[in-house]
Amino acid sequence: MTSNDLRWLAALLLLAWGPVQGAVPAGVRMEPVKAVPVAADLKQGKALYERYCNQCHGNEGKGDGPAADFVYPRPRDFTLALYKVRTTLSGQIPTDHDLFKVISAGLPGTSMPAWKKYISESDRWQLVHYVKTFDSLGIFKDEPAKEQVAVSEAPKVTPELIAKGKEVYRAKKCWQCHGQYGRGDGTSAEGLKDDWRFPIRPVNFTKGWRYRAGDRVEDIFRTFTTGFNGTPMPSFVDAIPSAEDRWALAAFVKSLTRPPKNGQVLKARRIAGEIPGDPYARAWEEAEYLDFPLAGQIILDPRWFKPAHDVITARAIYNDRELAILLEWDDGTYNKGEGGKPADQVALQLPAAKITGDEKPYFVLGDRRHGVDYWRWNAGQGLARFTAAGHDRVTPREAGNVTAQGGYKDGQYRVILRRPLTPSGDNEAAFEPGRFVPVAFHLWDGHQGEEGLKMAISSWYYLLLEPETPLTVYLWPMGLGFVALGGEFWLLRRLRRRRNEEVKP
Ligand code: HEC
Ligand code: HEC
Repeated sequence: MTSNDLRWLAALLLLAWGPVQGAVPAGVRMEPVKAVPVAADLKQGKALYERYCNQCHGNEGKGDGPAADFVYPRPRDFTLALYKVRTTLSGQIPTDHDLFKVISAGLPGTSMPAWKKYISESDRWQLVHYVKTFDSLGIFKDEPAKEQVAVSEAPKVTPELIAKGKEVYRAKKCWQCHGQYGRGDGTSAEGLKDDWRFPIRPVNFTKGWRYRAGDRVEDIFRTFTTGFNGTPMPSFVDAIPSAEDRWALAAFVKSLTRPPKNGQVLKARRIAGEIPGDPYARAWEEAEYLDFPLAGQIILDPRWFKPAHDVITARAIYNDRELAILLEWDDGTYNKGEGGKPADQVALQLPAAKITGDEKPYFVLGDRRHGVDYWRWNAGQGLARFTAAGHDRVTPREAGNVTAQGGYKDGQYRVILRRPLTPSGDNEAAFEPGRFVPVAFHLWDGHQGEEGLKMAISSWYYLLLEPETPLTVYLWPMGLGFVALGGEFWLLRRLRRRRNEEVKP
């Protein structure tokens, strides 16, 4: 379909909906929209748009700016007036305040920035006015939104309410797309398209920081009351008419979110006896976990601006003989390398020698002076091991004393990597209680075409085999080690900025 066909179709659908537009579903309370505080100055709006927005949204608002091909999801095409984050009923245009909010706060988990730090309030209103002029159907002009969905305060969230919501989630088949544990891996998640015919994936509910319409219980309630126009995510007011059931459902979805637990040092706890090979075993469940933020690898060619993954979770344990690290990440698309797509992969990067002081190899595949020991697990082929002294000097080596076990269940990978504490040769770091060893992580989603340098990367963190003596004795001398250099500094800033943007107003 061309965009003209689409416009036609939209016009037809609109005609068909016309008569029912005014009908408010039972169980939904409406309230009048608020007045807009700033009158339109389209000349000013255009200038601002051309300065800040057209590289993504395109000069004519078709979502086809030069940066559009490099981001997922794609920037919005404004010409059909289809908007996702709204307070209005399904199929309707947003209010001006809805647009203002999106422009100000951005859309978390996407490349749409929060502009409130860079653009004054009155200029953001000019952008609202200007974006509406791209509407090729003239709906904003002819039938501006007059009413919006009123969302009252959420009821008290109790275990009973969550349990009830879980039942609604099952009965209304949210799991078909979002997966049983909300990881976006449902049976119908595959092959979904949006109204612009671009591939689209259901949201992973565990990542609260990626909810575009907000992750408060009230926000979630509003999202499936209004639906996301232009996507397979419909409004559920007709399917779930009882507001009580919808509150329960919102409380349940919220309960699936897991706030990230960040830190610099991954502590390996010592255990007596064998380290279990089952990643769901008690010893692993009890081990402390940390979430490490990831960003696209955009330092070396080919640069990668739309990494599928933004976090990896790790735990570590050791005994008198060996150390094991459990890596865990959500992936809605299990991929062993079939159908012409690369397989899902994960890699752990360690220094290829004993580290003295605060020296560290370059954080992407090492450098000439400091090599890295690279353990990569592939969903189809298992473990491969390399030594790298820069991205152009990667040498395969025997897996030797390193072993890997990996699996996929319920939308999540769990991979255990292990090695004896004592290094077997020169090109290995020593694992000794009390000694900090730099670690970094690389992650690929084969389904999104990620392989080679098209990957998500972390900066250096530290692995520490927890000694019997108190930790604080060791922490102080480490202070210097956290000073980041070169590209890594860039990465840290980027990760920090992203985290700030995700803080909702
Ligand atoms: C780096 C790329 C980028 C830039 C620059 C950008 N946007 Fe966006 N914008 C996006 C993406 C991507 C989406 C769609 C995200 C989605 O579908 O979830 C989006 C969506 C939107 C939406 C639709 C929200 C909805 O609920 O459907 C509006 C409105 C918007 N942008 C306005 C702007 C304005 C105004 C500017 C300039 C001040 C701007 N954008 C600059 C990437 C960008
Ligand atoms: C047909 C598949 C499908 C079904 C069924 C479905 N969803 Fe979705 N859902 C999606 C897709 C796809 C998206 C992402 C839309 C996008 O990226 O713009 C989404 C997005 C969402 C979001 C938005 C999160 C955000 O970014 O703010 C919420 C909340 C949500 N769904 C809740 C539900 C609930 C609750 C149910 C069951 C009542 C449900 N969904 C059923 C496909 C589905």
